[in-house]
Amino acid sequence: MIVFRDVYKAFGENEVLRGFSLDVEDGETMVVIGYSGSGKSVALKHIVGLLDPDQGSVDVDGQVVHELDRDALRALRSQIGFVFQFSALFDSMTVWDNLTLGLKRQKLSQREMSERVRESLARVELLGTEDKYPAELSGGMRKRVGLARAIALRPKYLLYDEPTTGLDPVTAAVINQLMIRTRERLGVTSIVVTHDMTSAYAVGDRIAMLYRGQIRQVGSVEHIQRTHDPIVRQFIEGRPEAGADAEAAAAGGPA
Ligand SMILES: Nc1ncnc2c1ncn2[C@@H]1O[C@H](COP(=O)(O)OP(=O)(O)OP(=O)(O)O)[C@@H](O)[C@H]1O
Ligand SMILES: [Mg+2]
Repeated sequence: MIVFRDVYKAFGENEVLRGFSLDVEDGETMVVIGYSGSGKSVALKHIVGLLDPDQGSVDVDGQVVHELDRDALRALRSQIGFVFQFSALFDSMTVWDNLTLGLKRQKLSQREMSERVRESLARVELLGTEDKYPAELSGGMRKRVGLARAIALRPKYLLYDEPTTGLDPVTAAVINQLMIRTRERLGVTSIVVTHDMTSAYAVGDRIAMLYRGQIRQVGSVEHIQRTHDPIVRQFIEGRPEAGADAEAAAAGGPA
């Protein structure tokens, strides 16, 4: 279980998280939506200790992430697969080398490592690309390699940062299917950060909206789809012109 407890995080004057609290239950896929720059990636980075909170904490399986020493943090990270926003593959390394990099820390035999790589590439339907370099792949393929690299670790948790952003609708649907299948077959607990509502509805058990540093609303897909919260409605319907009205309504003023 991943628990954000009243997390505050600022960069200088920029107060990004201001009392961010969220529980992610074992086995569920939690989707976090929110405007660009609202702090979704910042929130994710706290889970693996890439950022530390100014106040509050993030707990993973009861461990306070920012209190862990180096070895404990390394052990925690080996249970968490991170699919980064910009795939984050090493350009100078082949797909094979990109996938085995993290596995080398797990002290597997050469054979086990090969099996893991092949199994993960098969899951994302990219067998045969082992010797290619990221520059030779399309954006969608790079996203899939990023996913393969994360699942090769056989993680307990998977964190996806904008897995479908910038992809055509069909490729995005393929990625959604992969996320659903990964959850079904590997039973992982996932957090998916996205502003793609089609993806959010397809993969989420619950959806949480981050707004002004806090969770504005969290609930099942149906709950969010039927919400009367003006800020959430405006976001999920993508109505830019409704901005001022939604703000006024949220503040209790004239809508
Ligand atoms: N390491 C950092 N140093 C300083 N400011 C940062 C850092 N990381 C993020 N920020 C700032 O924190 C805010 C939130 O950034 P974040 O990347 O979390 O947004 P996001 O919700 O993921 O946006 P997007 O949907 O565009 O990816 C932004 O204003 C960003 O400039
Ligand atoms: Mg981001």
